[in-house]
Amino acid sequence: MQIDLTQRSAVVTGGANGIGLATVRRLAASGARVAIWDRVAAVGTAAVQSLTDSGLDVIFIEVDVTDTAAVHAAVAETTARFGRLDILINNAGIVRDAQLVKLRDGEVSGGMSDADFDAVIAVNLKGVYTCTQAVVPHMLANRWGRIVNASSVVAANGNFGQTNYVAAKAGVIGMTQVWARELGRRGITVNAIAPGFIATDMTAAIPPAVLASMKAATPLARLGTPEDVANAYCFLASEQAGFINGAVLGVDGGLVIGT
Ligand code: NAI
Repeated sequence: MQIDLTQRSAVVTGGANGIGLATVRRLAASGARVAIWDRVAAVGTAAVQSLTDSGLDVIFIEVDVTDTAAVHAAVAETTARFGRLDILINNAGIVRDAQLVKLRDGEVSGGMSDADFDAVIAVNLKGVYTCTQAVVPHMLANRWGRIVNASSVVAANGNFGQTNYVAAKAGVIGMTQVWARELGRRGITVNAIAPGFIATDMTAAIPPAVLASMKAATPLARLGTPEDVANAYCFLASEQAGFINGAVLGVDGGLVIGT
């Protein structure tokens, strides 16, 4: 299937690294003009340099998705540069893992902090809400839009040490379904992806034994690549995905059915 995104402009949050960066490359290679919204200026600027050197139409805007004013400024800058905004990939995400309550010798010795809970909700859940609310008016104006949100396989069944992350990723599915209902009649589709374990900085800190057990539980017997997920984002952003709305697309090598 040939995906043609010429005439389209896209935003990828967290686009300076990992899955986001692969997605920027994939969308731009399909003809879209792409704005990377990320909080790490040095990494984003370097990414744009290498992408523009290979002839792709990409810009970087330094923005923290938890900062509502900065997000609105980024929308204004993106539309000023591109003239329109058709595709939003809500990909930015962080982890701050900890058990709810940690015990040592039968005594409570720690647990997840409020700061870690709030930080993950702020980026992974509220950031998706903030970016979508700021971008949607531009899609409504054209009666066309594609919004794709990053959930995770862990949203369905939980994951040890990820109270905050699972709460956010399950919430993302809920918001996806609400917006699919609210925006569908206006020509805007809203979907989510649920990646399994993908080889990026986010999973680099996971102990090798845990990653090995994840591979063993995955029918395709490997970790995913950023490109595997980028392909799914790109398809859901395409014209061809026009009747897919409110869906959660697993990109997990069969991990969910494998466990
Ligand atoms: P990553 O850590 O490699 O990249 C995340 C990007 O988001 C970075 O460029 C970072 O600077 C940016 N970011 C973080 N906080 C931000 C903020 N407040 N404002 C703007 N940008 C911010 O992560 P990765 O692995 O590429 O993950 C991308 C998305 O996919 C995340 O939402 C993650 O939760 C989700 N995901 C990843 C999985 C994996 O195994 N790597 C599995 C399931 C979901």
